[in-house]
Amino acid sequence: MCGIVGYIGSKNAQEPILEGLTKLEYRGYDSAGISVINHQQLRTVKKVGKLNFLKNSLQQSPLEGKIGIGHTRWATHGIPSDVNSHPHLNNKGTISVVHNGIIENFLPLKEFLIKKGYEFLSDTDSEVIANLIDYYYEDSIESAVKNAVRDLEGAYALAVITTEEPDTLIGVRHESPLVIGLLDDGFMPASDIPALLAYTEKVKYLENGDIVVMTKNSIDIYDSENKKVERETKKIEWDLESASKEGFDHFMIKEIYEQPKVIKDAIRRKCVDGVLNLGDNTFSKEEWNSFESIYITACGTAFHAGEVGKIAIETWAKKQVQTEIASELKYYQPFIDEKTLLIVVSQSGETGDTLAAMREAKKKGAKVLAITNVVGSSIAREADKVLYCYAGPEISVASTKAYTTQLIALYALALDMAKKLGAMDEEKVQNWIAKMNNLSSTVEELLDSQGERYKKLADHIKDSKSIFFLGRGIDYLSAKEGALKLKEISYINSVAFPSGELKHGSIALIEDGTPVINIITQSNLVDKAISNIKEVKARGAFTVAIGDNNNDGIKEVSDVVIPIPLVDDILAPVISVLPQQLLAYETSVAIGNDVDKPRNLAKAVTVE
Ligand code: F6R
Repeated sequence: MCGIVGYIGSKNAQEPILEGLTKLEYRGYDSAGISVINHQQLRTVKKVGKLNFLKNSLQQSPLEGKIGIGHTRWATHGIPSDVNSHPHLNNKGTISVVHNGIIENFLPLKEFLIKKGYEFLSDTDSEVIANLIDYYYEDSIESAVKNAVRDLEGAYALAVITTEEPDTLIGVRHESPLVIGLLDDGFMPASDIPALLAYTEKVKYLENGDIVVMTKNSIDIYDSENKKVERETKKIEWDLESASKEGFDHFMIKEIYEQPKVIKDAIRRKCVDGVLNLGDNTFSKEEWNSFESIYITACGTAFHAGEVGKIAIETWAKKQVQTEIASELKYYQPFIDEKTLLIVVSQSGETGDTLAAMREAKKKGAKVLAITNVVGSSIAREADKVLYCYAGPEISVASTKAYTTQLIALYALALDMAKKLGAMDEEKVQNWIAKMNNLSSTVEELLDSQGERYKKLADHIKDSKSIFFLGRGIDYLSAKEGALKLKEISYINSVAFPSGELKHGSIALIEDGTPVINIITQSNLVDKAISNIKEVKARGAFTVAIGDNNNDGIKEVSDVVIPIPLVDDILAPVISVLPQQLLAYETSVAIGNDVDKPRNLAKAVTVE
């Protein structure tokens, strides 16, 4: 996710900004840039790729000046490129802005500004902000920023400087993080604490809607109602290592806890003014009608999301969908032709098997819609249409937040298809969007409420030879993801079965104490699930249920019940996967494995 660092003080700004950006590298980024003002001259340098490219370029020609802003960008609008990198300037080149977040209404704002004569160089939503501030600028950058942010919808943290007022640095925090480091001789706004650690222990945490006006000697903070407010100064207690994980022990657990936010962002990005609108990232009604077959392909966790996507498309859009593992589909696609749509799902957008299957299908004339998290990735570039996940960078090898945002993208796609094919009316589509919007708070409540139970359970299962995951229907798909998560970071043999299938052979593997994790969210399948639990319990299994705590039948047959809130059946994997992610995490920790970098695995598997 993007990182912001600013500086105003009595030293050269370049060094603390670059040092701060270096400490934010862990957030993931694909380009970096910096603006500094000196003698009312604004100089900006931006480079796609590693921060070192920017540093090398600045070594040749350093920026002088005691006020500046810097940024590491994780592409969301527009590919990673020099021109899409931040800072973005107004047309006159007098205002410089760095932005972290999403401007939801950037298109109407851009159209408005184009009508007023503004030109745009980049594909980003952020460039709109620089020109919007310019539009409002009369004689005060503070008023211009305050007016501009009134027009912005979405999530954003900003840092703004202008040659017109070279002694003022403005910061804004609105649903994207921004903290202010207090220096002996100035201030440093930043996205996160690690950027500040080398310079100060004193920090002010801003509240949503705060606008901060800083000079070398003063700081004024205004709340969302433009009232001048005080924000307490706090001492930073973290060391660098824990700070980059924002206080979490591992990236995996941090990413699990990011899910409420990224789910919210993912839905927000699929809507305009709250109404589902995938814009150019999807097909027209005529195109949807023209597809005679639809396939979904992917690998690993992304495939598990794709399988849930199949159910959503078939249920909502009434179109049949085939799912196939990418490494298999590459070699066997007898029915793929120019009337086929291939949906590929890939967090990294670089997975060799997925790319190969997609290229093969394209050769046969199929159209490709990609669901990916990485803007400008190979899969994104080669697909006909792209829906982004907006999970932000996923650093832990074991995928968590990418899975839930892939689900959101697939649900949104299924609804778009359903609407255009006439399988669902607008009102019903919006009802589902409303239900999806509620998921974020349900996920948050679940993550906040379950605390220590996973540690206890992990201790109990950590020495098991094998662990089984059972589910019926969509719960089986969620169980597959749970089993994969556990096996890749605990190295325990974990396998998922459709609940009814176990008795056809694999039940022979159940011994005294074998853990069997049962996912039970589907209202019409609870009784059958209970019967299957009884079967394994009779053979000595240690039974865990992830489901409704109020169901006496489930409680009776389970040694442990992990309660989860029940949501509509199709949306349930977003919820039921969470306890499985947490259990996998705690088991890996209990065993003492390298949670974020499990053996033999890579984050992006680019080889076939
Ligand atoms: C599991 C995991 C892998 C990936 C798979 C596909 O936690 O991360 O199974 O899901 O390698 O990767 P992407 O989504 O990058 O194509």
